[in-house]
Amino acid sequence: MQTVTLNNGVEMPVLGFGVYQIPPAETERAVSDALAAGYRSLDTAAGYGNEEAVGRAIKAGDIPRAELFVTTKLWISDAGEDRARRAFETSLRKLGLDHVDLYLIHQPYGDVYGSWRAMENLYNGDGLVRAIGVSNFHPDRLVDLIDHNEVVPAVNQIETHPFFQRTADQELMRERGVQIESWGPFAEGRNNLFTDPVLSGIAAAHGKSVAQVVLRWLVQRGVVVIPKSVRPERMAENLDVFDFRLTGDQMAAIAALDTGASLFFDHRDPAIVSRLGNTTLDS
Ligand SMILES: NC(=O)c1ccc[n+]([C@@H]2O[C@H](COP(=O)([O-])OP(=O)(O)OC[C@H]3O[C@@H](n4cnc5c(N)ncnc54)[C@H](OP(=O)(O)O)[C@@H]3O)[C@@H](O)[C@H]2O)c1
Repeated sequence: MQTVTLNNGVEMPVLGFGVYQIPPAETERAVSDALAAGYRSLDTAAGYGNEEAVGRAIKAGDIPRAELFVTTKLWISDAGEDRARRAFETSLRKLGLDHVDLYLIHQPYGDVYGSWRAMENLYNGDGLVRAIGVSNFHPDRLVDLIDHNEVVPAVNQIETHPFFQRTADQELMRERGVQIESWGPFAEGRNNLFTDPVLSGIAAAHGKSVAQVVLRWLVQRGVVVIPKSVRPERMAENLDVFDFRLTGDQMAAIAALDTGASLFFDHRDPAIVSRLGNTTLDS
């Protein structure tokens, strides 16, 4: 698997498997199928409620730990130095691991600075995480965090797909040494992504699917991707994006699809800040 090198030298697979919205009861089977298909990077979160199931699949898969790259995330209700530390230990226990490869602040809300201090300690002092980063940080928040702390986030996982391309954000992250990672590479199918005429035309030209073109376009831009599917045939399809290359014209045609706006919600919208900020974990 092709990798990107994070700002601390850690190698991260450029393509992994996301488990958001896979119900806990289905997650072990889905992750086992993904591992069998060849995925070695897994993206979960305390907020997804399926860390234990991911852990069971990892255990059952019996793949050497060093070959896996496991990401999980800290939820807002666990923000703050002490709580973040405890939340990390809970995630580690649920996953059944002795370290995680990447630990992210899931949302840019609450006591982010306290959380970051705890994460710096997990990273520097205890070696329980190989890299730390953030998610859903707009550039202003990201720069503020970088400028007032010691460890620069290795990754910022943000909504990135053909209709919301984040090229300026990616450039700023590149200047600051932060790897961009896409969530929702298919925009979860919104905007009729899978039948979009531009994407369909490019897919036909390569004998590939729209999903493969989208993932290829992201990987070719240097964006880490973590597509989700519960279907083994799609898992395999989504991995099979390394045997073709989009031309400059095709990249430009996809660039023209950018609307510059989220298809989900704006993390700077006060109503969203309040709604997400008041969402607590079930257990
Ligand atoms: N940090 C954050 O705030 C955040 C937010 C959202 C997501 N994420 C992460 O990013 C990952 C990916 O994003 P996502 O799950 O929201 O959405 P996504 O990967 O953009 O889309 C998933 C949807 O596409 C379908 N699909 C997958 N492969 C396909 C293919 N080859 N052809 C046609 N349809 C296909 C899936 O259906 P089937 O499952 O039925 O195949 C599912 O409905 C998540 O799982 C999670 O790990 C993070």
